[in-house]
Amino acid sequence: MRVADGRLLLHDIPLTELAGRYGTPLYVYDAETLRARVRAYRDAFAAEGPARIGYSAKACALVGVLHVLRPMPVSAASLGELEAAVRAGIPASRCWLHGNAKTDEEIRGALALGVGRIVIDGEREHERIARAVRGRAQRVWVRVAPDVVADTHSHLRTSGEQKFGLPTGGRGTALVLEIARTRGLRLVGVHAHVGSQIADLETFRRVAAWLASFALELRDDGVDITEVCVGGGVAVPEPAGPEPDLIAYARAVAAPVHEALPDATVVVEPGRSMVARSAVALYRVQDRKVLPSGRVFIAVDGGMGDNIRPALYGARYEAAVAERSDGATEHVTIAGAFCEAGDVLIEDAVLPRADIGDLVVVPAVGAYSVAMASNYNQRPRPAVVLVDRGRARLIRRRERAADLFRLERVSSR
Ligand code: LLP
Repeated sequence: MRVADGRLLLHDIPLTELAGRYGTPLYVYDAETLRARVRAYRDAFAAEGPARIGYSAKACALVGVLHVLRPMPVSAASLGELEAAVRAGIPASRCWLHGNAKTDEEIRGALALGVGRIVIDGEREHERIARAVRGRAQRVWVRVAPDVVADTHSHLRTSGEQKFGLPTGGRGTALVLEIARTRGLRLVGVHAHVGSQIADLETFRRVAAWLASFALELRDDGVDITEVCVGGGVAVPEPAGPEPDLIAYARAVAAPVHEALPDATVVVEPGRSMVARSAVALYRVQDRKVLPSGRVFIAVDGGMGDNIRPALYGARYEAAVAERSDGATEHVTIAGAFCEAGDVLIEDAVLPRADIGDLVVVPAVGAYSVAMASNYNQRPRPAVVLVDRGRARLIRRRERAADLFRLERVSSR
């Protein structure tokens, strides 16, 4: 984004023009930023030996966004995400499906699409996959929960006592060996993901070292582990701030794996750090309220239905006013339109004076916003636009009232 005559532009397109054309709330993704992240990850791993970088589609599974990221395979958290990847032109054979409660329908669907790997995360899941396999043995990984605790929000931590990963130790190893011996399956990899929004590279290094030594143990037991997936989790500072250095990150995860298993492929599956900075949200101010205390509330036409992250994780964002990015500023609270006191997008934003009708811009909303959007209060979910090579294109149209009732079966009209 840049400023010209006080107006915010994205590749020469004024954000006010996009809001005028497509309405608000509007999410605007930038293809160039997405491609730059693909390059940054690839460059970071280029000197690190065999490596594979998959995009965790859960951060944003829009087909239009996946299409830009299509040089990368996808780590899918559901059959729907895998289907989105396929619709974007990414062969399922390059992708992997994880999840702690896969249904038989999901397993069958993923096999029918020709999914590359299934990440086993259930104690009896291997039996269900084996029953569904037709023809060639299905490659699988096992997800485990290394004894490495990530320093992050409790909702974003997946280590310690939690639902993900097969048990390890005596009973766990016996189970993994049973999986390796199951007809119809080929156990080729180990997988872990200890959390999200992790800034400390030492956490990643310890996960990689833990998995590498686990893989070595399995090799001693005759299981040929050739792929070690250390998950995603690279932090994107909130609000803006320096990102963890990807080259140092690549080193931290690849070195322990390749020291133990020089021929193994180290796999990472970033979500947030691929897409967070690639989108801005545009909201129209609907009201301005000044409390007796002097506190100013700016109410906008979106909120927790399109971005639940402030309410759910205390996520922090910054904001700007699209048509007035200069001038005197004030401290305001940006509230959403949803009928809930907790629907506050930004507690303390510093903005030029914003009034009814102004356009508020919230950057760095590309991850886990649209992906987690809901129809709470029967509000339609926002439209999404992709700006690519100087042109804006709708990649998801705004929901209409009719969409909200499409699935309902009772009507008195
Ligand atoms: N791999 C697995 C197995 C995961 O569960 C996740 C995220 C990732 C990779 C990608 O992690 P990332 O690179 O995006 O940190 N809704 C939350 C984030 C939940 C992340 C869940 N798992 C948020 O808005 O912050």
